[in-house]
Amino acid sequence: MRYVMKGGNPLAGEVTISGAKNAALGILAAAIMSDETVTIENLPDVRDVAVLLDAFREIGVLVDRVDRHTVKLNGGNIFTACADNPSIRKIRAGYYLLGALLGKYHHAEVAMPGGCNIGTRPIDQHLKGFRLLGAVHENNNSRVILDAKDLHGAHIYLDMASVGATINLMLAASLARGTTIIENAAKEPHIVDVANMLNSMGAKIKGAGMDVIRITGVEKLHGTEYTIIPDQIEAGTFMMAAAVTKGDVTVKRIIPQHMDAISAKLLEMGCEVIEQGDSIRVVGRPTLYSCNVKTLPYPGFPTDMQPQMGVALCLAEGVGTITESIFENRFKYVDELSKMGADTEVKGSIAIFKGSGPLKGAELVAPDLRAGAALVLAGLAAEGITVVDQVDYVLRGYEDFDKKLQGLGAEIRLAETDEDVKKIKFQIS
Ligand code: UD1
Repeated sequence: MRYVMKGGNPLAGEVTISGAKNAALGILAAAIMSDETVTIENLPDVRDVAVLLDAFREIGVLVDRVDRHTVKLNGGNIFTACADNPSIRKIRAGYYLLGALLGKYHHAEVAMPGGCNIGTRPIDQHLKGFRLLGAVHENNNSRVILDAKDLHGAHIYLDMASVGATINLMLAASLARGTTIIENAAKEPHIVDVANMLNSMGAKIKGAGMDVIRITGVEKLHGTEYTIIPDQIEAGTFMMAAAVTKGDVTVKRIIPQHMDAISAKLLEMGCEVIEQGDSIRVVGRPTLYSCNVKTLPYPGFPTDMQPQMGVALCLAEGVGTITESIFENRFKYVDELSKMGADTEVKGSIAIFKGSGPLKGAELVAPDLRAGAALVLAGLAAEGITVVDQVDYVLRGYEDFDKKLQGLGAEIRLAETDEDVKKIKFQIS
């Protein structure tokens, strides 16, 4: 799949942000820990969610997709604690089934996690935590197998504030005997959302959103109805789209506080950023100014917004840098930007952007999910036509990305075949 676009239109108007993908994946896993029905609203309609729901069906979860953004799940008929199919191997968040199934059945067998190739992405912190909770772990046929005779509370210190490990351990510890303390926990908005969801099912989790989370295990979790928070990264991507196309975009139905690190950088770069209730309006200016950015765990600048920021720095006046401190392999998109005429250099974990002025349309390949979205922003800011290949990555995490951009005035279409690409190029040029 490819996106074909013609750059140059300043994006303008309003865009409604979908539910948070990364929160949804944790929340779906939490939902199957109850034998009662759980209703989840504001579910984003993205591929990663569809894949996880398919994996649920295969182990016996009753999945009722009430409408595009609502699902009812019932985990009362699960017949196996083994989740392994080709799809689950493609997504990262399959690993949440480890915590969910271990908590509920004291046994879990899950295909090794896949996801974007943005670094080695080990799961040693998840496994360390599970072991401390009483599980024995082995790897077999590239599956992670966990087994616990007695799942009990534990004091767990994470070596790094891992989002995945924090969620996975909250899941398992919610049904463990006694109290678990997770120190150096991740604080991302979706950690808080998963904790709130588990608490609405009867779990006892305190401190989510802070460095130390305390979980008192309960006997069982009951049904609930829960609405997922808005997607911080989707919102940030559209805010950046306004900046790079010198447009005027209002992102609606968001939690502005989650956007603070991104808003601060856009202000520093000379954009106008106006908070209005549950919306933020970003007005791009004729000149963007460079800045230095370092990715950090929340509330720092999110690594998932790093490539989009890289595009903005290509178009800014002066020299800007990005220091990537979370994943070691997240600058692959920089080579793609060079094809558009960007003057950039990567030295280890630092990328240097020498604000090179206008980008030129080019044939690009998306190296991963967020970088794919960033290359689309580059194409919309560039002169002429850009084709971004391998956008299946983007579809994993952005709902209706092309349609939402079209709603803001972007010339962008999704193409499946070479013929489609030719036709769209002809129509939009
Ligand atoms: C999640 C998000 C991803 C986001 C990332 C950081 C999901 C499905 N994915 O990924 O979009 O980019 O948070 O905000 O929610 N680490 C270890 N050992 C572990 C776990 C992590 O060394 O056991 C390292 C990782 O390699 C990385 C850092 O810790 O360098 C942070 O990773 P983590 O927060 O766990 O990211 P994910 O949960 O994989």
